[in-house]
Amino acid sequence: MNVRQILPFLLLAVAPALAQTSDPAVLAGACQGCHGVAGQGSHGIPLIKDAHSRAEFVALLQAFRANQREATVMGRIARGYTDEQIALLAAHYARAQ
Ligand code: HEC
Repeated sequence: MNVRQILPFLLLAVAPALAQTSDPAVLAGACQGCHGVAGQGSHGIPLIKDAHSRAEFVALLQAFRANQREATVMGRIARGYTDEQIALLAAHYARAQ
């Protein structure tokens, strides 16, 4: 087996481990590469900072996770997070109300 053959399995093994944390700043780190350090969005990737209420944010992530909202990547990403972690991400990114 060469590296190219085992890499997908290594990534599968690491991804759930990364999603174990309950530190909102660490959780949000996984979003920043695409949505921007401040969640401001760019290059066609939507703004997520202060763009939704907490309830809307949670509903969006849950819909991505359940394949009920059209997505290129967010369906796969959302599947890596528990309800508790989604609530933490909502607290980090959603509008205070
Ligand atoms: C690989 C790039 C990428 C990463 C990483 C990423 N996103 Fe996204 N996000 C997208 C794209 C692209 C969309 C538009 C839907 C789609 O095509 O999947 C989106 C859409 C969203 C939306 C819906 C916004 C709206 O108003 O419709 C939310 C909320 C969101 N992402 C939250 C997150 C959170 C929270 C994380 C980190 C856990 C994250 N995203 C990580 C690329 C990314």
